[in-house]
Parts: sequence; C-alpha cells; structure tokens
Amino acid sequence: GIDLGKLLAKTGMVTLDPGFVNTASCSSEITYIDGDAGILRYRGYPIEQLAQRSNFIEVSYLLIYGELPTQAQIEEFSRQISRHTLLHEDLKRFFDGFPRDAHPMPVLSSAVSALSTFYQDSLNPFDDNQVEISTIRLLAKLPTIAAYAYKKSIGQPFLYPDNSLGLVENFLRMTFGLPAEDYDVDPALVRALDLLFILHADHEQNCSTSTVRLVGSSEANLFASISAGINALFGPLHGGANSAVLEMLEKIRQDGGNVEEFVRKVKNKEDGVRLMGFGHRVYKNYDPRAAIIKKTADEILGKLGGDDQLLEIAKKLEETALADSYFIERKLYPNVDFYTGLIYRAMGFPTKFFTVLFALGRLPGWIAHWREMMKDPATKIGRPRQLYVGPAERNFVPMDQR
Ligand code: ACO
Repeated sequence: GIDLGKLLAKTGMVTLDPGFVNTASCSSEITYIDGDAGILRYRGYPIEQLAQRSNFIEVSYLLIYGELPTQAQIEEFSRQISRHTLLHEDLKRFFDGFPRDAHPMPVLSSAVSALSTFYQDSLNPFDDNQVEISTIRLLAKLPTIAAYAYKKSIGQPFLYPDNSLGLVENFLRMTFGLPAEDYDVDPALVRALDLLFILHADHEQNCSTSTVRLVGSSEANLFASISAGINALFGPLHGGANSAVLEMLEKIRQDGGNVEEFVRKVKNKEDGVRLMGFGHRVYKNYDPRAAIIKKTADEILGKLGGDDQLLEIAKKLEETALADSYFIERKLYPNVDFYTGLIYRAMGFPTKFFTVLFALGRLPGWIAHWREMMKDPATKIGRPRQLYVGPAERNFVPMDQR
C-alpha cells in the first residue's frame, strides 16, 4: 500500500537500491570482475595466471601495493611479516575467556579488534608509517590468532610461530602441530591452501569489503575496520557459505543421497532451502574461481584422501543443477565455495573453521581497499539515505491509555 513514487517525490532525489545491486560506492583500481563473461583480475592480472604462477604472499603484495614485487621487495615484505607473527602474551590470555565450543569467527574478530588496544602507536589512518606497520601486523598475526582459536577449541596448547617457515606453513604447523612432536608440513597441503587463499584474496565491493570501507570511512583505524569485515564475513550468505555447503552435502548423504529429491525441494523453495555454493550477485556465469578449484579438487582430494561420497554428491548436484531450467533461467552456477569445503575438510579442518580460512585469504583484499580509500580524495563518510515508511506524526500516548 505504499506509493513509492509519492515517497520519492517527498524525499527529493534519492535512489532506492536495496542490497546496492546497481549502486557503485566508490571507484577502485584493485579488482576487475566481468560477471557475465566469468572474468576476475587482480590489478589487471587474470586470476588463472596468478593461481598458476604466483603465491599468496606475492598476491597480497600485488593487491596492497598495486604492482608485482621485485625479488628484493618480496624478500623484505616476507621478512617483515615473519618478524611480527607473535601475539602479545596478554592477548593470548584473551582466548581463555571464550567458551571452548565458541564459533571461531567472533573469536577472530574480537582478537583483531583488540589489536587496537595493544598497538596504540599505529592507529592513525593518515600516517603512512603507521598504516604500513599495522598492515604488516595484521598479515602476520591473523594466522596466529586463527591457529590459537582452533587450539583453544580442541584444548591443545598454543605453539609459538616458527619464523623460519613461510606464512602458510607456519599457520598449518601452529594449527595441527604439537609442542612435543616435529610437524612435517605436507607440501601438497601448503600449495593447496596457498591456492585457495589466492582465489579468495579479493573480490571488489562484496559485503565484507564494503563493510571495511564503510567503517573506515569514519576514519576508524585499520584493525577496527578489518574486525568489522570479519563479522560481515561470518554470515551464511557470504563467508559462511563454505560451511553451509558441507552441512548441505552431509544432510543429503544422511537422507540417503537422493540428489534429485534435494534439487526438487530447492526449486519448490521448500522451507527456504537453497542450493548452497550456487549463485552469485555478480557472476551470472561459471565463477572462474570455482572453475580453478574444480580442476584441482580431484587432484588435491586424491592426494589428501578426501571424502569420496561427499565429492560424488557434490558432482552429481552440480551436474543436475546445470542441466535444470530453474538454475539455467536464473543463471545460477557454482561459486567459489561449492568445492572449497570438501578440500578444507580433507585437510583436517572442522566445518566451523572454514570461514576463518576465507578470512585469512580475504585479508589482503580488505587491507588494499581500506588503504585505497584512505588515499582517495573523493572519500567521504559513508552515509546512505533512506525512504521513511513509518507512521506519520502522532501524539504521545500516556501509559494508562495504551
Ligand atoms: N539456490 C536456489 N535458488 C537460488 C539460489 C540458490 N543458491 N541463489 C539464488 N536463487 C534464486 C532466488 O530464489 C531467486 O529466484 P526467484 O527470482 O524465483 O525468487 C533468484 O535466484 C535470484 O536470487 P537473489 O537472491 O535475488 O540473488 P542475489 O544476488 O541477491 O543473491 C546469493 C546472491 C546471496 C549468493 C544467492 O545466490 C545465494 O543465497 N546463494 C547461496 C549462498 C552462497 O553460496 N553464498 C556464497 C556467495 S559467494 C561468496 O560469498 C564467496
């Protein structure tokens, strides 16, 4: 019963665009997506080339500084990061306060938020040196925080980082290693996780990145802005999708593996059930990241010994959906997270932890966007308008007359 035309006339010239489907919030030089053609490029470089020839540290450098590093630059960048992997001993005590069965995402965002209290020397968003050191601290410490969130959840002691190892190896050792044992990091596992991090490293103005920018637009510091991004990523329609895919596959298996029956339910929108890991706001074609993962999933799962039954269900689901008019008409294709859950599980991560891995991968993208925004003279505090559709003016009613 609301006349939007009248409302708009009253409000003046504003555009109403729920979910910002058609509204650009900024201009950016970082990531290019052509959703119809299934193209993704970081700083101009096709994701396929980066996946094949680069590594996560180099891609982080590229996203944040805009160019591929020279040998000297990457060595210095890596050295800086490995020097900052330790957590303050007081920050480690934080983990004691959370319930053991807590979801690791709020643990992660809380610890990142707390970095503002430990590093009060680097909170000025307009001081280049301070931004630089907080960038390095975040890249270095987030894997340590993530590993400790995991150790806390299973009751094992925390391991100090071993700075002779690369970022991904160090993270895997702190996550799966034990103080009493040597931990031999499987190179296949390192390469697979590194690849997944590259594929997640940036995706322009998605929900969490837009959140980082919106929070940062009030000139909040980098730690505070990234913490907000982590919370945005927590939601099941965004970063939570990778866990949701695995839960969906498990449920189909428990119900006897009947893929057709599940697809029927999705199409009839029974109980609001969606095919998780399918569909994307921007890609109306095969997600190029999903294509890369699909190609490597078999290989990686073969090496790591994945759950073949669940992989079979996933493949059958994809095949069934891609041949079905419901999905074809709506241009719903597998997105990046359709196969990642299976790989994460084969690596030994519990389902709850998948979204944390997404956060580790997305961190350089968030940082790059925050830094770009802070340098952009066109930046203003984010402050969307609204259409007011509540009651017209009315008089206060005393308690005894309500
Ligand atoms: N399963 C079944 N139907 C779907 C799905 C799905 N996964 N996704 C969209 N649809 C249908 C909708 O019901 C709608 O149909 P209708 O016109 O009959 O109502 C139509 O497709 C358009 O969907 P919207 O919700 O309007 O698309 P939107 O762009 O808002 O949503 C989103 C994109 C949130 C990713 C959605 O596709 C979805 O919920 N997917 C499942 C969750 C998921 O995998 N998220 C991960 C996203 S990628 C990432 O964060 C890395």
